[in-house]
Amino acid sequence: MKTIGILTSGGDAPGMNAAVRAVVRAGCEKGMKVFGIKRGYNGLMDNDMYEMNLRTVSDIIQRGGTILYSARSPKFKTDEGMEQAMKVCRERGIDGLVVIGGDGSFRGARDLSLKGVPCVAIPGTIDNDIGCCDYTIGYDTALNTVMQMVDRIRDTTESHDRCAVVEVMGRGAGYIALNAGIACGATSILIPEIEYDFERDVIDRMKRTQKTGKVHFVIIVSEAIGGVHEMAKRIQAETGVESRATVLGHVQRGGSPTAKDRIVASQMGYRAVELLEQGIGNRVVAMQKEKILDFDIYEALNMKSGIDLNLYKIAQEISI
Ligand code: ADP
Ligand code: F6P
Repeated sequence: MKTIGILTSGGDAPGMNAAVRAVVRAGCEKGMKVFGIKRGYNGLMDNDMYEMNLRTVSDIIQRGGTILYSARSPKFKTDEGMEQAMKVCRERGIDGLVVIGGDGSFRGARDLSLKGVPCVAIPGTIDNDIGCCDYTIGYDTALNTVMQMVDRIRDTTESHDRCAVVEVMGRGAGYIALNAGIACGATSILIPEIEYDFERDVIDRMKRTQKTGKVHFVIIVSEAIGGVHEMAKRIQAETGVESRATVLGHVQRGGSPTAKDRIVASQMGYRAVELLEQGIGNRVVAMQKEKILDFDIYEALNMKSGIDLNLYKIAQEISI
């Protein structure tokens, strides 16, 4: 019988629970012993884990967050931390590990695989910023949450003839901002991947649309750019439109996962177990063009995927 462990690491994302459920159920059905490791790599180093079964993952497919909890774990990056984790794996007889997280977590999974514990990583982050994947678990839910929140902001912005400047998450990437910007009809979208000129891309666009009768505005700003409070002041001073800034924050990380996140998480979790069943480690499960694939972790970490520039161009032309 194989023994595998599963952990969630880094920032949590809606759909992580659906992936945990898939891994546990697939593992149990294949006759494996499955340990749920708490708080990411911390739980691995501290031997904080429990045996899971078909019923310990009941009623979680629809829940946000992660029942295994998550953490960022600087100690795991040290030689001492790695040795401690290896010792626990030996003691528990863990011969395979599923790691759900972002690219930082993947690096940890690569290091453990190189040391002899086969790991399979699953992309779980709202940021969608993993080079080897078109899609990461949590992204769809976060994007839809942002859209709903901005729709609400838009209601009050419209009532008061105001401009709303909204900062959204994404770490260093502009996927959430660009796609939410299109979905909400933002007049301007500021993302780190595209150089911008505030005067040209915000003020002038607003003035141009004012001439066609537009009186309320939404500007979406990626957190990598930030500064929404100053931007709102500047917009008010230069256009005369009363402006308010909102930083959406962690509301974007919670909530019940969308159907897409649950389905992709289930597929990815299942594939991860299939790989470990065959003794294959050091892999990242990924989605490309709606297909579930897997890559060597090292290669996956070096892959680059860019923002869809055409999407930005479309937004520029139609959100005016
Ligand atoms: P994410 O997985 O969302 O990118 P982090 O970058 O915070 O989040 O990484 C999560 C955890 O993965 C870290 O706290 C650390 O324990 C582990 N990790 C990150 N980078 C490395 C690395 N270079 N080598 C080994 N482990 C790492
Ligand atoms: O990676 C997910 C994410 O929510 C980013 O979008 C954001 O920059 C970061 O995590 C926030 O991290 P924390 O929850 O530690 O404040």
